[in-house]
Amino acid sequence: MVVWQKSAGVKQARVLNCPALRSPRTAPTIRAMTTLPLGRAVRHEWRLDPDFLTVNHGSFGATPLCVLAEQQAWRDRMETQPSRFMRAVLPGALRAAADTLATFIGAEGKDIAFVDNATGGCNAVLRSLHLAVDDEVLVLDQGYGAVRKTVRFVAERFGARVTEAVIPFPNPTEDAIVDNIAAALTRRTRLAVIDHITSGSALILPLARITAVLRAAGVPVLVDGAHGPGQITLDMRTIGANWYTGNGHKWLCAPKGCAFLWASPDSQDGLHPTIISHGLGGGFLAEFDWTGTRDFSPFLSIGAAIAFHQRLGGEAMRARNIALAAEGAALIAQRLNTETAADGPMTGAMRLVRLPLGRPADDAVSMAARQRLLEAGTDAPTHVLAGALWLRLSAFAYNESEDYARLGEIAARVMREIAA
Ligand SMILES: Cc1ncc(COP(=O)(O)O)c(C=O)c1O
Repeated sequence: MVVWQKSAGVKQARVLNCPALRSPRTAPTIRAMTTLPLGRAVRHEWRLDPDFLTVNHGSFGATPLCVLAEQQAWRDRMETQPSRFMRAVLPGALRAAADTLATFIGAEGKDIAFVDNATGGCNAVLRSLHLAVDDEVLVLDQGYGAVRKTVRFVAERFGARVTEAVIPFPNPTEDAIVDNIAAALTRRTRLAVIDHITSGSALILPLARITAVLRAAGVPVLVDGAHGPGQITLDMRTIGANWYTGNGHKWLCAPKGCAFLWASPDSQDGLHPTIISHGLGGGFLAEFDWTGTRDFSPFLSIGAAIAFHQRLGGEAMRARNIALAAEGAALIAQRLNTETAADGPMTGAMRLVRLPLGRPADDAVSMAARQRLLEAGTDAPTHVLAGALWLRLSAFAYNESEDYARLGEIAARVMREIAA
């Protein structure tokens, strides 16, 4: 529920379920509040269909009602005086939103630009590159497909090459990952694109160790942190990257179309948004803060999303989700008589379980399995890795153990049908 309040002469929305919402004109604070119960008891905070088993928070997140209400309040405010809003309210509100996000990710607001999604954040960095013929851009073999395509697109324009470091699977060690990345560097490597949490294998890579190796070799690093914010604790000051892009709309539950690109102060020159507009030549923030008329409400709602995240328990909730994902994966592996992948310190709130197939997997069977899961009333990504078929589950605040017992039953039925 949204009510309008007058504060400092500015009418602003306050969503009753999100008491930490604040004026864009006030200093950013994230207040500690009573935490909410988790699991089924908190599910009413979302619009989730009770007849559908939601165990795939990782793909697109899910935005709670109070954050949607905050987003609508910003839209309403914009439409009461569109031109005044864009010219007089938006610039300050956007920077205040960046400041709020900064406190959550261990950064300074001046180093944060908003982008629509992590794909867009990666595109901005990659499409600002100037490469020479035979230069190299290093990616991971398990790097996100859309970003790997962007790297190829950019490299081909310059006659440059794309090189690849292998992430061992299913049970990699940190040493092996760091060594493989180091071994893939050459004198021609101009940039490394490193996923913070891999999409298909759901591994939290040892970023600080990786960036230390890359920096020592003089190779700038772009981190694709699509799954980072809200799944794990972030601190831009210690990550050691030149650029880090992260989604608000996945694990932080911000509205769809809310992501950020953080750039270290010495990596902002020459960095441009993919849409060039009035701010060109005006510096990092001038270029990114205005890329043409659009709906800015997803960005402006990030404070509400962070406040809600903290009400769910913040760090304690993140740890609980990681433990729940491990428990859920073990439960399903036991039900299917298979195994989980990547047990150990590199795992987060997404986990992989092998699906029983009895033959080598291919993309066709993976697509068939996912389609059958959907028809059976749930959704979880399926991937072919090391010749086997794997299911990726997610655990978020609204999930509880029983969800994975149900998922195990559905997966067993689907795999029986596929094998028949
Ligand atoms: C590692 C990684 N990068 C990028 C993306 C793309 O995110 P978006 O669609 O928000 O750009 C994803 C999506 O799951 C991902 O897993």
